[in-house]
This record gives sequence, structure tokens and C-alpha cells, in this order.
Amino acid sequence: MNGNLRRSLLAVPASSAKMVEKSKGLACDQILFDLEDSVAPNEKASARANLIKLFSSKPVFRARYISIRINATGTPYFKDDLAALAQIPSDALFSIVLPKVEKANEIDLLGGALLIDAQIESAAGLANVESIAAHPHCLSLSYGPLDFAADLGAALDDLSEGELKEFTLYPLMKILVAARASGKLAFDGPEVDIRNSDKFAQGATRVRALGFDGKWVIHPDQIELCNEIFTPSDSEYQSASELIAKYESAKSQGLGAITDGDLMIDEASLRSAAKIVARHQAFNSN
Ligand code: COA
Ligand code: MG
Repeated sequence: MNGNLRRSLLAVPASSAKMVEKSKGLACDQILFDLEDSVAPNEKASARANLIKLFSSKPVFRARYISIRINATGTPYFKDDLAALAQIPSDALFSIVLPKVEKANEIDLLGGALLIDAQIESAAGLANVESIAAHPHCLSLSYGPLDFAADLGAALDDLSEGELKEFTLYPLMKILVAARASGKLAFDGPEVDIRNSDKFAQGATRVRALGFDGKWVIHPDQIELCNEIFTPSDSEYQSASELIAKYESAKSQGLGAITDGDLMIDEASLRSAAKIVARHQAFNSN
């Protein structure tokens, strides 16, 4: 299983010294210090300076993975973002989050040393998602729901809850399949209704059931719920372990397909169960 599993990816505006400081103690799996859309144009320079200063002090974080989201390759900010990155010790960062990726060769503009978490947020990005996922420096794909809707011209507020689910299923599945075809991780974008934990839980539970690894969070209150939803529960772990034991014993007796209650189980069931066990172990060993 991929060694850089993550469930909760917290976006922190790099322009906010207060939020940057607070992020050090938060229990998300990954922090994404943002230089892109949460930072106003006239704050870009001071946000870069904040990050250079932060990383010069060898900060310690509770989060295991620390990343910076820079501005998209086609923007006037991209060059200055790269110059700022050059002033940050490369071992301080796990990856660079690249927004609005539309072509795989944009990743080459970052130079060979940096690993990329790519955001798919446009029609062009989705059309080219397989080659983006296949890029050797690409670690993961994230769905960017708001930018994607804007790019398509969709009016999300005019869609019913059911229609909204139908609308998002296509990009979510296309991103997930492309990621898995290249052995990469897949993340859902954020829930912007920050005080609505039911809505967060519904969205996160749905994408977890589809197969996603985790989700972006934008507020500290979303972290714990996100981690919980994307970690297999003890009872899921127990059932998966029992299924594996039962199936392995059947296999040793020369059986390929057996029943578990009224359900047929075979080698495919074993693969699903093994993933649950591995995920449970990965997030309970820290
Ligand atoms: N990272 C770190 N700390 C955060 C935070 C974040 N993303 N969001 C909120 N906080 C802190 C606040 O500073 C506040 O700290 P305090 O208790 O020490 O005062 C505490 O958490 C509670 O915050 P709250 O007052 O409920 O929210 P807010 O009104 O300050 O902020 C947002 C609301 C939406 C503006 C803020 O959560 C935010 O900027 N989120 C990230 C947005 C972003 O990065 N978007 C781009 C990527 S999608
Ligand atoms: Mg975006």
C-alpha cells in the first residue's frame, strides 16, 4: 500500500500569521500552507515572506506531512512562488500542491526534486487527468469542486441535493480511476459550510465509500471528524480480519469461492478486506 497515506489535508492561508501558528498543534495528517486563492493579490508577497521566515526557524508540527500550495503555472505569481520555494529548505517540505493543473508537463516546470499533489479543477484538467496522474512526480489528485463548477458554468445553488450528487459523481470517479490506474492517492475537496458537521460527514462518508483516501479541510473543527471517517472503525477491522482468516483457511483446503452467511466471497473480497486492515493499521500505529 502507498506509503504516504493521508486522510485530512488542512488548508492554512499563509497570509495569516495567527492561523499558521495555530496549525502547528493541529492533528490533521497534512498541512497545505496556501499561497493561492485564500491569499489576496496584495498579500502574496507578505505570505511568501511569512513562509520563508517560518521554515527558517525549523518549526515542529503535529501533522506528519507539510506542504505549500503555490499559484497555478499560468499565473503572474508562479515565478515568485518558485523563487520563495528556493529559499525554503527542501527537506522541510513533503510536497508542493499545484492547483488548476491542466497538463502533465506543467509538473516539469517545478524541477525534478519536488513531489506534487495535483488539483483537478477544470474541464481541461479532467480531460487530461490520466496523464497528470501518471507523471512520476505526481503523488495524488484532489478534486477542486468550486473551481470546477465555475469552469463549467454550473450554478450549484440551483441544483437539488440529488442533482448535486449526480453532478459531482463524474469528476470524482474520473479522478479516482485515473489516480488508482497510476497507483496514486485521491482526495475530495473541502466542505465550505464550516459550521455544518452533518454536511461534512455526509460528503466525506460518500467519497470514502467510493474509494477516496481523504478530504481537504479548511477549519480546525473539521479535522477530527475527517480523520474518523477515513479510518476504518475497529468493527470494520475486526470483520475484515475475520473474513481474511476464513478465506485463507478455505484456500488452504483448495477452495476459491466460499460463503460468508448468504454471501459469496472470493479472492476479490480478500483484496478489499486486506485494504481495510492495512488502512486501519496505518492510522493506528502512530
Ligand atoms: N488553519 C489554522 N487555524 C484556523 C483555520 C485554518 N484553516 N481556520 C480557522 N482557524 C483558527 C482561527 O484563527 C481561530 O483561532 P483562535 O481560536 O486561536 O482564535 C480558530 O481556528 C477558530 O476559527 P473561527 O473563528 O471559527 O474561524 P474564522 O472565522 O477565524 O475563519 C475561515 C474562518 C473560513 C476564514 C478560515 O477557517 C480559513 O481561512 N480557512 C482556510 C481557507 C483556505 O485556506 N481556503 C483555500 C483552500 S480551499
Ligand atoms: Mg481551487
